[in-house]
Amino acid sequence: MKNNLTFTMIKPDAMENGYAGDILSLILKSGFHISALKLIHLTNHQAETFYNIHRKKPFFEELVMFMTRSPIIVAVLKKNNAVEDFRKLIGSTNPEDAEKGTVRNLFATSMGENAIHGSDSEDNAQIESSFFFTKNEMY
Ligand code: GTP
Ligand code: MG
Repeated sequence: MKNNLTFTMIKPDAMENGYAGDILSLILKSGFHISALKLIHLTNHQAETFYNIHRKKPFFEELVMFMTRSPIIVAVLKKNNAVEDFRKLIGSTNPEDAEKGTVRNLFATSMGENAIHGSDSEDNAQIESSFFFTKNEMY
């Protein structure tokens, strides 16, 4: 099925603040199914590779330091129109602009520490999922 997968990470701030359960609950209640999931502590190299597109941005070093600070949950999620619906569920990058009831509105700390990641395209959903999981680990 095309367009039915997206990739997410529950970021260090949300993990440290004890929000992982509430966030997963909101994701499941919103109609997403878990296709794959694990806890992982990113290495510097993994964080730099994952966010390679932002390598030239002024916040890159801060982003890598943040993402490697504590273990995170990475997961592949399944739903019709997964990428678009999940971006709606997580809300704007800056939690101050995030719509009420979105994950970032409810659980994010700041623009840099914004609780959750969601793929921004179908192609990236595939690339990001296979960065962390083999085909055999996705159900
Ligand atoms: P992701 O789902 O994590 O990819 O977020 P996004 O797609 O909403 O935003 P984007 O891809 O533009 O940025 C990736 C991540 O870099 C953001 O989620 C933030 O954690 C971080 N980031 C983006 N802009 C800034 C910024 O201006 N300052 C800081 N400190 N971090 C930023
Ligand atoms: Mg992004």
